[in-house]
Amino acid sequence: MKRLVIVTVILAGCAAVCTGRYNSRASQLKIIQLSEPRLTGPVSLEQALAKRRSVRRFSSQELNFVQIGQLAWAGQGITEKKAGFRTAPSAGAIYPIKLYFATPDGIFVYEPDNHSLNEVLNGDIRSGLAVAALKQSMVATAPCDIVIAGSAKKLAVEYGNKAKRYMLLEAGHIAQNILLQAVSLELSSVPVGAFDINQVRKICKLPMTLEPLYIICVGYPAGQPTTESNEKKRTGKPDTGKTKRAVLIIASENFRDEELFETRGALAEAGVETVVASTKRGLIRGMLGGRAEATVLLKDVFVNDYDAIIFVGGSGAKQYFNNRVALNIARQAEQQGKVLAAICIAPAILANAGVLDGVRATSFSSERVRLKKVGAVYTGSAVERDGLIITASGPRAARQFGEIIVETITNNDL
Ligand SMILES: Cc1cc2nc3c(=O)[nH]c(=O)nc-3n(C[C@H](O)[C@H](O)[C@H](O)COP(=O)(O)O)c2cc1C
Repeated sequence: MKRLVIVTVILAGCAAVCTGRYNSRASQLKIIQLSEPRLTGPVSLEQALAKRRSVRRFSSQELNFVQIGQLAWAGQGITEKKAGFRTAPSAGAIYPIKLYFATPDGIFVYEPDNHSLNEVLNGDIRSGLAVAALKQSMVATAPCDIVIAGSAKKLAVEYGNKAKRYMLLEAGHIAQNILLQAVSLELSSVPVGAFDINQVRKICKLPMTLEPLYIICVGYPAGQPTTESNEKKRTGKPDTGKTKRAVLIIASENFRDEELFETRGALAEAGVETVVASTKRGLIRGMLGGRAEATVLLKDVFVNDYDAIIFVGGSGAKQYFNNRVALNIARQAEQQGKVLAAICIAPAILANAGVLDGVRATSFSSERVRLKKVGAVYTGSAVERDGLIITASGPRAARQFGEIIVETITNNDL
């Protein structure tokens, strides 16, 4: 049953609900199919080593599942499928360690084989965990506490009385990977070793075979501006008044996480200022549980204010297929010579706005017929650019989509 749902989740792609639920227990527990880890990043290993510092005060901004997935992969991700070898070394490749992620939504265990997070408990255990960690308050305030737990028994079969030492060494490897990955994601962290083992085991509902070894608190440092301004700050580019601006339009629920976060990340790295618009203001949840703050209402998007108009996909994007305001925004963008972009199922919005006639375009496969019907030259590529119109197939192409938007905005100005 569990396997079936995971397979369904993978096949469903960007347009379907990716937090699969299964009913093998009375309570319904989520399985989060994580997106592919990133293998490149803006921070070199040397910079990450130099910048890593323990931080104990965190802002309330939550992490999304793209960030959490990347941390999980850094700790225990499979990097060689055939042999099952992972990011961190393991004596005899026995892998006695499990990673648990305590977030405001619940506690999840990382399953390297599926690259998924399986919910163990619904609800926020972080305060209880902080009490178990000798009342260290950052365990309660960090948006994500990673509990590294190990089974010396699993190693003892092969290594006898060396098992405990090997398990602890492996936990250290994993912890350091996670700490450095946090730096690379521009997050802060602190490792915590001071806690009551039995209390942590009980709170996290760990099986008796697993001993909690280490907790790593991860989040945004307190007193820092929000993500958008962080990204602007990171670019180091002063606002000269010529800063490029892009609006990312997301559905009022179920936008696809990577398509917003990775596209926005590529824009921010290039110094492009971004705003998020939707039919409602405030925090909006993505299909994978990430949260984004929409600060502009769709009806208040003035195309003239932006260099690029970007429609983000995910199952919720259907709400704009026949939305008069959204279609008008797309038409105006084309008429005013702005960069107009859409990813996943969102190219259907451009199709319905009538701006794809004779244009080379791509989309999530479900929209292929619709695009062809309005005269688009459908290519099925990951990303397609035709003049100022950029389309992409789905979450895996999000980063490249963002980079091509940046390139097009830059060239459009020359
Ligand atoms: C095994 C271990 C256990 C630790 N436990 C705690 C802890 O319980 N609480 C805490 O605030 N910091 C803890 N730390 C973090 C250290 O205090 C911190 O690494 C040290 O002060 C050096 O600072 P830096 O990490 O910024 O280089 C622990 C570090 C290690 C290696």
